[in-house]
Amino acid sequence: MTAFPRGALFMAPMVDLSHVAYRQLIRSFGGCDLFYSEMLNSRIVPGEKPGTSIYLRWAHTGDLIFQILGNDPEKMAQAASKLSGYQPRGIDINMGCWLHKVMEHGWGAALMKDMDRSREVLTAVRRAVTDRPVSVKIRIGHSLDRQYLLDFASMIEDCGADFLVLHARTVSDGMSRKAKWEYIAAVKDHLSIPVVGNGDIMRAEDALSMMRQTGCDGVMIGRQAVIEPWIFRDIKSLASGGGLPERPDLKQVILDLLDLMDLHFPPDVALKRFKTAVIWLGRNLAFGHYLAKEVGRAKDLSQARRIITENFQRGIS
Ligand SMILES: Cc1cc2nc3c(=O)[nH]c(=O)nc-3n(C[C@H](O)[C@H](O)[C@H](O)COP(=O)(O)O)c2cc1C
Repeated sequence: MTAFPRGALFMAPMVDLSHVAYRQLIRSFGGCDLFYSEMLNSRIVPGEKPGTSIYLRWAHTGDLIFQILGNDPEKMAQAASKLSGYQPRGIDINMGCWLHKVMEHGWGAALMKDMDRSREVLTAVRRAVTDRPVSVKIRIGHSLDRQYLLDFASMIEDCGADFLVLHARTVSDGMSRKAKWEYIAAVKDHLSIPVVGNGDIMRAEDALSMMRQTGCDGVMIGRQAVIEPWIFRDIKSLASGGGLPERPDLKQVILDLLDLMDLHFPPDVALKRFKTAVIWLGRNLAFGHYLAKEVGRAKDLSQARRIITENFQRGIS
């Protein structure tokens, strides 16, 4: 089973951001090969229906990897099996989420402390998903213990995962400390399965540097993908020896996302998620903070659209 072509670019799983509308926006620019869903709680997945669940919405699933969260092997296998039935590109297990509300249940990065339980979870999911890739997304771990990380990565490979994603930070690094790409190189050297590197791709050039410096097989982008949804296109252009394409018109990008939100989500969800997105897209603008605050007051998407149009007309900067 070929998991992905070498040099593939991935959009990271991000709660409230890795959804159908953002994926459609990113697809419109091109360059992103595979998309992760936001993490889906394995306790909730069995009761969710694609027609009504806001988490199970897609335009198509051929490039979509569902990420599941949990630590009960049976529930994880059930969730994986159900999601696999929608013909996604793959199923991923979250072993990297550092949030207290996740780890206190023994989920996410808490699993990295428990090699036996992690093995059971992965083995159960692997058994449940026989016809498409299974991957695991991890962090460096709970400390900078290189040998433990390599042992954990070997366990993942031995259990039959098709690839591994390494977010190159420890749990205590949270999201702010600099990503330690040298750990991506160490894991890549150690394993035979493909390794996807993740952490601190802030410019298109960074993706090429990460591949060069670590030898990783693919690159995953989180925050910068929602700030610059065209970054994947830019990376592909640089990789093929071209220059950086022109930046798109940001007002149009924001309004396109608004339309996609409107198309795919019920009004309350669309508005809430759009407000979150404007915080990220606003980082491209000198008046982005102000814009996000104003949009944050909107009662519906029509009002949000008016606020955006007016602010761009005024060109506050
Ligand atoms: C708002 C937000 C939500 C996230 N949600 C998830 C998630 O659901 N599952 C996961 O594995 N990682 C999650 N992450 C971590 C990202 O997938 C990624 O590993 C991290 O942002 C580092 O990549 P970056 O430096 O390119 O942003 C989240 C990150 C952010 C900023």
